[in-house]
Amino acid sequence: MRKPARASASDFPGGPPAGTLVVRLDDLPDHGGKDIVFSDGKMRLQLLVQKIGHQVYVYENRCPHAGTPLNLFNDRFLDGTGKRLICRTHGALFAPENGHCVAGPCKGQYLRAILVEIRDGGIFTA
Ligand code: FES
Repeated sequence: MRKPARASASDFPGGPPAGTLVVRLDDLPDHGGKDIVFSDGKMRLQLLVQKIGHQVYVYENRCPHAGTPLNLFNDRFLDGTGKRLICRTHGALFAPENGHCVAGPCKGQYLRAILVEIRDGGIFTA
């Protein structure tokens, strides 16, 4: 499957406009994740933010296998090695750098990457 282009959060039903703060960098420890939900009152967009070293990755928090959030109920998105994102529902593993599923029931598919801008100490939708 071809890697999908990065999407603007505003392209999703319930997604926020460009320039919306997703999370402050101070609230994201090294190897820390955040489950962020935006809603317009009717629809919702759930994002996952994961920091690994100095890199920050932002994806729609929706597994391409069954559509569940990867984390289910907390802010933990990494597997035991700390190198892959893991879906807690059926164990799919994803490369953090491009969202490619490298093992599990959706192998070969991708998470939807979200366009963001890092500035002023925060991660903002772009
Ligand atoms: S829903 Fe993620 S692996 Fe099945």
